[in-house]
Amino acid sequence: MDKYTVVGNPIAHSKSPLIHAMFAEQTQQAIHYDKQLAPLEGFACWLQGFVADKGKGLNVTVPFKEQAYALCDQLTAEAKAAQAVNTILIRDGQCVGHNTDGLGLVADLISQGVVLSGSRVLLLGAGGAAKGAALPILDAGVAELVIANRTYHKAEAIAAMHQGRAIVAKPLAELSGNFDVIINSTSASLQGQSIDLPDELVSRETTAYDMMYSDGATPFNQWAHKRGAKQCIDGLGMLVHQAALAFEFWRGVAPDAQAVMKRLRLG
Ligand code: ATR
Repeated sequence: MDKYTVVGNPIAHSKSPLIHAMFAEQTQQAIHYDKQLAPLEGFACWLQGFVADKGKGLNVTVPFKEQAYALCDQLTAEAKAAQAVNTILIRDGQCVGHNTDGLGLVADLISQGVVLSGSRVLLLGAGGAAKGAALPILDAGVAELVIANRTYHKAEAIAAMHQGRAIVAKPLAELSGNFDVIINSTSASLQGQSIDLPDELVSRETTAYDMMYSDGATPFNQWAHKRGAKQCIDGLGMLVHQAALAFEFWRGVAPDAQAVMKRLRLG
């Protein structure tokens, strides 16, 4: 049976094996997908072993996405823009690196009825998650993408990578006006913190999207909800859609992400 895995450190709580088992069942693909812990200082060696062991593909998660980018033999446009790889296809012993995180975000937004084409979008944060999201958001045809971050120069650097496109960097303190879509890619919610933002960013037409997900609303989504946002979405759909795009990259078959999301919410 073709072998796939998700590798990270830590990895115990990964939902990827469950999600890919559901995709395999749906599409009747005979694959084996497990999770593996690689040593913090030994990712390159671990990857060599997986390739030698005839693995067909893998997902890469924290903290190895940048190392995976450096180790791949070929890279897709999304991986190059993100400077990080979350999906590897192994073909003739060569690693093809892709990044489905930002594509998964856009796929989830669209499947939830959010219109990106012609919209004014605010992306909060300028870490790895924002870097991966910028190109797919721009490719979705937004009118303007404003990227804002606590440490301004990081937002500037991402905007500079997409020079000539509809992206502009702003310091958090200089944000004004309202946005059709506000995406939180910062890790503030993860630490239970909220970001100090002007109320005027949210109107009754605004969709708030937190890349994090939790059982209850995240602090960012609570903030947007209180200010009257039209809808507040968490990152579970992004997780499932990035996995679906990885599955399709490996197997050439698109699974039904929506059906899996429903099962995860119920479970
Ligand atoms: P990831 O790979 O998940 O994007 P990261 O690369 O560590 O993680 O980036 C975390 C992002 O969250 C950064 O943009 C960080 O801002 P700084 O660049 O200023 O550090 C942002 N972040 C984390 N905690 C925050 C907080 N309390 N308020 C605002 N931004 C925060």
